Amino acid sequence: MIAAHYPAHVAERRRTYGLALAASKFDSVVIQSGTPFRYFVDDMDAPFHPTPHFAHWTPLAGPHHLLHVRPDKKPRLVRVAPEDYWYEQAPLGSPFWATEFEVVNVTDTAAAWKALELKGRTAYIGDAPTHATSAGIAQDAQNPAPLVVRLDWARSTKSAYEVACMEEAQVLGARGHKAARGAFVEGASELEIHQAYVQAVGCTDDDLPYPTIVALDEKGAILHYHAKRTKRHGRVLLADCGAQVNRYASDITRTWTTPKADADFVALVSALDKIQLDLCALVKPGLPYPTLHHAAHVKIADMLHDKGVIKSRGEEAVQMGLTQPFFPHGLGHFLGLQVHDVSGHQSAPEGGTNTPPKQYPFLRTTRVIEEGQVFTIEPGVYFIEMLLRPHRNGKLKDSFVWSTIDRLASHGGIRIEDNVLVTREGHRNLTRAALHH
Ligand code: GLY
Ligand code: MN
Ligand code: MN
Repeated sequence: MIAAHYPAHVAERRRTYGLALAASKFDSVVIQSGTPFRYFVDDMDAPFHPTPHFAHWTPLAGPHHLLHVRPDKKPRLVRVAPEDYWYEQAPLGSPFWATEFEVVNVTDTAAAWKALELKGRTAYIGDAPTHATSAGIAQDAQNPAPLVVRLDWARSTKSAYEVACMEEAQVLGARGHKAARGAFVEGASELEIHQAYVQAVGCTDDDLPYPTIVALDEKGAILHYHAKRTKRHGRVLLADCGAQVNRYASDITRTWTTPKADADFVALVSALDKIQLDLCALVKPGLPYPTLHHAAHVKIADMLHDKGVIKSRGEEAVQMGLTQPFFPHGLGHFLGLQVHDVSGHQSAPEGGTNTPPKQYPFLRTTRVIEEGQVFTIEPGVYFIEMLLRPHRNGKLKDSFVWSTIDRLASHGGIRIEDNVLVTREGHRNLTRAALHH
């Protein structure tokens, strides 16, 4: 399926690049796959991540490659494959994507630039602008904002190929999450649960789209908890772990409990799961994402009220600020080649910014929901002492039920995160299609 959709994906890239180049007054663009990032005063590189604009065209791995996109010509892909015995230089073979390009093989960066035929006004996108300067590309044509913003905007509409990659990334992630849950139930530590996850996905840590968040009990209240303790037998597991296929990510969170967890916390987990599904059901073209985020706060307020955590409900509780300490992050973000994919705050194809509402500064997408977008829906409820502390003796102190909060705090937090594709009528939940409970 992935391969079958690929030619149409490239055709669409050629079309949208043609429009973006014309609108920003360029004849063509050279995109570089990236330069390895070397740690300071070291001879070691960080795991390589390609330039996303390059990966938007091709899953070809590795640094230094050049892609020359010229409207009306087959794109030229100059592949840099040095003769080398330190690192493996796997032969290209015949991957499904290669026929969409005029592929030229060279052994170094200088030869790569020589293999291009630069004519007219050429733009450059990449992290090595000095190479572009040497090739005669003007400074104001290097990562030029008028072109890049249009390309970013186009990246928020996913092609059938991209959706197929992300669906496969859900299947891998689901496999990992099932293994993680199994290890947790057996009493495994955070480290062992992480290891069960990557083993089931069948990859190394560097192949993951982001470092796993595997948090037992109180550590679930640290939103990006990356440590891996060896303490076993947790009562609660919050696992936020993804996978990637052709560099397209899944970003999935599940929260599980054992019979030792407090019954009120277990009830909160099922209530939040239901809220998450209700929020997914609201997704449809035309709805501003911030409206959905606000709806999440109102639903969470009702839940916290009904479960005896706060004393007001609904809109009133949200306006009082009672949900803020429990749900202090955005409801979700665009997903694709980047886990927090680009253009979430963009107001139009030609640029401009929609800043998040003052009440919700951490919201990563302020866009209107449109068909073809893929984003996460990830409501959370956490017991974060740093955020609760100011209320303990503040003017709202009587609006919280501190005895319940203090009893549940050792359970950390809850997040349920799915990835959804916006369809003409509503949405398709890519995660739940792969991960059944
Ligand atoms: N895994 C990071 C996030 O959910 O945004
Ligand atoms: Mn996410
Ligand atoms: Mn996540």
